[in-house]
Amino acid sequence: MYCPNPYILAEIMPYGNVYPCSCGWIRGYSFGNIFEQSFDEIWNGEKAKEFRQKLYDNDFSLCPGCQNLEILEEIKDSEPKLISEPPERILLGLDEFCDVKCIFCRSDNHKVSSLIPDDKKDKLLEILTPWLKNAKYVKTNAVGEVFASKISRDLIKSIADNFPNIKFEIITNGIQCTKENIEKLNLTDRISMITVSLHAMKESTYNKIVRGGNYKKTIENIKYLSSLKKAGKIERFEIHFTVTSINYKEIKDIIRFARSLDAKVRLLGLDCSRDLEQLYNKINIQDKKHPDYNKLVKTFQAKEIKEAKDIVIQGLDYFTGLKKISFIEKIKNSFKKK
Ligand SMILES: C[S@@+](CC[C@H](N)C(=O)[O-])C[C@H]1O[C@@H](n2cnc3c(N)ncnc32)[C@H](O)[C@@H]1O
Ligand code: SF4
Ligand code: SF4
Repeated sequence: MYCPNPYILAEIMPYGNVYPCSCGWIRGYSFGNIFEQSFDEIWNGEKAKEFRQKLYDNDFSLCPGCQNLEILEEIKDSEPKLISEPPERILLGLDEFCDVKCIFCRSDNHKVSSLIPDDKKDKLLEILTPWLKNAKYVKTNAVGEVFASKISRDLIKSIADNFPNIKFEIITNGIQCTKENIEKLNLTDRISMITVSLHAMKESTYNKIVRGGNYKKTIENIKYLSSLKKAGKIERFEIHFTVTSINYKEIKDIIRFARSLDAKVRLLGLDCSRDLEQLYNKINIQDKKHPDYNKLVKTFQAKEIKEAKDIVIQGLDYFTGLKKISFIEKIKNSFKKK
């Protein structure tokens, strides 16, 4: 078995580090840094070759947190391919700036300063051009808010203007995701996928989670996006819902709402790796020691969630222990089944 990700995907994150997959799954194994090295030095450098060789050898030690076993394919080459063409998917997360503070994401500073070196700020398109050469999709911004960050907005617009064949996958809190702002970024008819994070169905619950947010605007914008999806102008539409003790009672309502929008729901387990320990102790309902843990399990056992084909549950096992089984164990099991 091998994994296509280190040939097709590059995640470019705040300091300019490049990862071949979700940074947490591969515990931060970076191929290199776009502000310090050339495209070739990174994408086909020693660290990239080592990663590809390991996957070819079925050594998954660099992928201990993998959540994407379905992606593995059977090896067809007799020799490992260590050199790769430029990736076809780029995840751009260069700026963490945000217009709100979700309690599980930021402690106090949401208007963070950019980590991009000053002398590189005007050269982002030039630096990224070799990365974008083969790109079919650019996804942004999984670490900040694309519509709130000037750096992200300017970058996306210049990519959209200069690479007319690239399609965009947008992840947003929805507050500023209006028709006008989509037009300003030259993204009209260029969005293949849009994900809006909506962690509550009730406004009062939303306000407990998204500090400084705007529930009404978010819902209004979600309805606009739904009209685009229903008109066939967006291929995929998802609602992200991070499960906590504050909002778990609204999961069923979110699923119903998403169905009315022609959207899929992705339920995310709480990632407790940030420096917010006291809060996580209170809201991490996926922890067996949490007083409401059994209520969460009951919620997930309800027929309408258990049998739903249009929801994805991500990270509940990995972050929480609901179904603790290591990645290596999963690989072994998948071999046993074959
Ligand atoms: C970091 S945000 C960036 C994109 C955009 N600002 C948004 O909120 O969708 C990406 C996703 O990560 C989720 N997220 C943030 N902190 C999290 C945490 N501690 N555990 C689980 N999910 C988290 C958010 O709910 C959101 O769906
Ligand atoms: S095996 Fe899993 S963690 Fe490793 S690159 Fe592939 S999808 Fe990512
Ligand atoms: S909107 Fe997104 S980036 Fe901003 S604080 Fe919330 S989860 Fe984090």
